[in-house]
Amino acid sequence: MYYRLQNYCKLVRGAKRGAIYNLQTGKVHSINHGALELLTACNAQQLEDFLDLQADEDKAYADFLHRLTEVGLGSFFINEPTKGNEPLPSPQAAKLDFLWLELTSDCNNQCLHCYATSGPCTNTDCVPHERWLSLLTEARAAGATAVQLIGGEPLLYKGWRELIEKAGEEKYDFIEVFSNATLVTEDDIAFLKQHHVNFATTIYADNAEVHDAVTLNPGSFDKTLTAAKKILAAGIPLRIASIIMKANEHQAENIMQLCASLGVEVTPPDVVRPTGRGDDAGLLPRAYAKQPVKPPFYTDPFSFAKAHQQHSCLCGKIAITSSGDVIPCIFARNQISGNILSTPLAEVLNGPILKSCWQTTKDEIEKCKDCEYRYACTDCRPLAQGSDPQKRWLACSAECSYNPHTGEWKEADLCPKAASTNHPNGSVPN
Ligand SMILES: C[S@@+](CC[C@H](N)C(=O)[O-])C[C@H]1O[C@@H](n2cnc3c(N)ncnc32)[C@H](O)[C@@H]1O
Ligand code: SF4
Ligand code: SF4
Ligand code: SF4
Repeated sequence: MYYRLQNYCKLVRGAKRGAIYNLQTGKVHSINHGALELLTACNAQQLEDFLDLQADEDKAYADFLHRLTEVGLGSFFINEPTKGNEPLPSPQAAKLDFLWLELTSDCNNQCLHCYATSGPCTNTDCVPHERWLSLLTEARAAGATAVQLIGGEPLLYKGWRELIEKAGEEKYDFIEVFSNATLVTEDDIAFLKQHHVNFATTIYADNAEVHDAVTLNPGSFDKTLTAAKKILAAGIPLRIASIIMKANEHQAENIMQLCASLGVEVTPPDVVRPTGRGDDAGLLPRAYAKQPVKPPFYTDPFSFAKAHQQHSCLCGKIAITSSGDVIPCIFARNQISGNILSTPLAEVLNGPILKSCWQTTKDEIEKCKDCEYRYACTDCRPLAQGSDPQKRWLACSAECSYNPHTGEWKEADLCPKAASTNHPNGSVPN
């Protein structure tokens, strides 16, 4: 008699525990060390070689296998099943898809937390307009389908409309302007509508006092909100982002209510990330925190396969700063992968720094590499790097309290099952 996990189930080994990834339902089931070793043995031998299914001393193991069978994760076989793992979809070869163009580092706001350290008259912009135009063509040829014009404040860049026209000519599927919206005119709105541009903006509170205390620009709240309403009235797709820091830490609910009242998608605000001016412990909120990394984890066949070879978020993305630097994400300021003032984009895309960022998997990341959740757990490298005292690219996320070497979460209530004994019945997946 043989026992095998279903073809759509993948067993992943961690330092202490294991996990069964059910690629049919997407659920990731935690199993303890005993269960992991049992299933590993089942894969290699027939059951009679190491188990007596009728014997009392092996009852717990037999019960565990029956339970796995009941929940559709495995099966008994009379004859040895042909070894046939369901083929995983092969992830696309890494290629450019999404492009941020940081048109200027200049901004009429001067937000407390700005990762781009933008503010009035920074005067550090070096990319000639012709180069932005040619980049849109080069990036499209390299595979990019989506572009976001951002800054600083992109509307302070005089040629922004021409770049949108160019992106339209190049047939980008998705064009977005990410702006503080304080400078938007009626004429701009008509232009955005005509060119099918998406708009994103940021609100830090539901009132001027708190919002303006973040932007350090009196009157900015009224201008941003007024523009947001006009943009919506024109039928332009609008996204509202929000970041919580100490100065607006009690505003999360108010912001979500404001978004709901505007009819804009409501998402919980993010917390300030430690980059640029945001790299300041004094800005951190005390009363608001992001959801920590914790189970349950979910995946799908494509993401599972991709997680073995490519970074879950960074792969396919680049940002180009107003000094021409290419970085893998707008927050990854120190991962400079080349400069488009001296190098064609295609060459930067094939360069070792960007490739290595795109290919950073959890198999390389400190602690995660020993964790059974590593092919389902998402990752933000710039956040993990920024939170690390030594600013290491391969540092583990500060938001994860799991210790894969003990199989325990620091907060006891996060995953009660993870604290079970080494006995296989202690961790029957559910
Ligand atoms: C740099 S701004 C550029 C676009 C525009 N000026 C604006 O503020 O909407 C893009 C977004 O990044 C956010 N941001 C800036 N610094 C950040 C940080 N340190 N952590 C998290 N988000 C940040 C801003 O709040 C804004 O939502
Ligand atoms: S977050 Fe946006 S609006 Fe604020 S200073 Fe930075 S670029 Fe300007
Ligand atoms: S962050 Fe790393 S250690 Fe924590 S659960 Fe995810 S993969 Fe595991
Ligand atoms: S890597 Fe992090 S900061 Fe960059 S796009 Fe992904 S989630 Fe956002």
